[in-house]
Amino acid sequence: MATLYEQIVDAMGEMFGVHPGYRAAHAKGVFCRGNFTASAEAADLSRAGHLQGDPVEVSARFSNGSGKPEAPDADRRDGRGLAVKFHLPDGGDTDIVSISIPVFFVRTGEDFLAFTEARRPGPDGELDMERVGAFLGEHPETAEALQSILPALTPPASYAQVTYRGLHAFGLIDASGERRFVRYRFVPEAGERMLSDDEIDAADSDYLQAEIKQRLAAGPVRFELRAQLAGDGDSLTDPTVAWPQDRPDVALGTLELSELDAESEADGGVVVFDPMNVTDGIECSDDEILSARSRAYSVSIERRAAARAAG
Ligand code: HEM
Repeated sequence: MATLYEQIVDAMGEMFGVHPGYRAAHAKGVFCRGNFTASAEAADLSRAGHLQGDPVEVSARFSNGSGKPEAPDADRRDGRGLAVKFHLPDGGDTDIVSISIPVFFVRTGEDFLAFTEARRPGPDGELDMERVGAFLGEHPETAEALQSILPALTPPASYAQVTYRGLHAFGLIDASGERRFVRYRFVPEAGERMLSDDEIDAADSDYLQAEIKQRLAAGPVRFELRAQLAGDGDSLTDPTVAWPQDRPDVALGTLELSELDAESEADGGVVVFDPMNVTDGIECSDDEILSARSRAYSVSIERRAAARAAG
């Protein structure tokens, strides 16, 4: 009997097609290299190695949410991703895996599977609105979350002009052991910009890939890593609900991506970004989606590694 996480990856394969050697989601992407320099405030919040102020090297990957490696960049129903691996002074690493939507659409792995199955296109290639409607009827939190998610799926002008969010709460632990829960986001220095309808219609299938290559050739791409602090009563486990905007919000530092990294995975290797890959000074919350993700990623990683090893 397949585990829930195998069923989730199988359901993704049914939705996007199975593409051996590729990620089951976020199949199309581009790797970059750069560094991260923490702000003075970051060390007050966490004793983690990359938050002490000295620059650390990073590996990053921009991606489209679809599991189709050939999916057009201007898809109006896709999220965009930014995964960042911080290389720590002690030789270890820690990841933030973020996406361009303001909240997530379900609360559990079981609901993720059910919603993925409900969205599977019918024989005509179209969504079965009756099935989707039935799921939404039983899950008002998803119907509510989609109100803010759908507009955020409009294709951006650039991977460098999107705010990417970590969505789950993480605990930051300071030098004295005090813990505060935060939600991360990467805010683009270049500002946010989405394409107009005409621009979307005219966009080349790989315009995001081409644009980021061109942009990086002209100079570094920067994002500010910010942390929104949880207030009293804010859920630490429900990623479908945004925290109120008036919560304290701290700049943790600057992510500077300086060049493309054409070597990563070029030799058949497999790079893994895992949202639960934290380090001393950071703790995962009990958000069920966070642990479901990590387990589903392991299934996808095992399968793509095996396919790549088989050549
Ligand atoms: C239960 C919910 C989720 C499931 C089942 C899921 C599933 C997956 C899978 C199977 C992969 C491919 C992993 C690999 O082969 O390396 C993936 C990649 C990714 N996911 Fe999720 N995901 C979920 C939620 C999220 C959330 C909440 C975010 C962001 C906050 C997110 C952002 C990403 C990104 C950016 C990647 C690409 C990472 C890379 O570039 O290597 N996902 N997801």
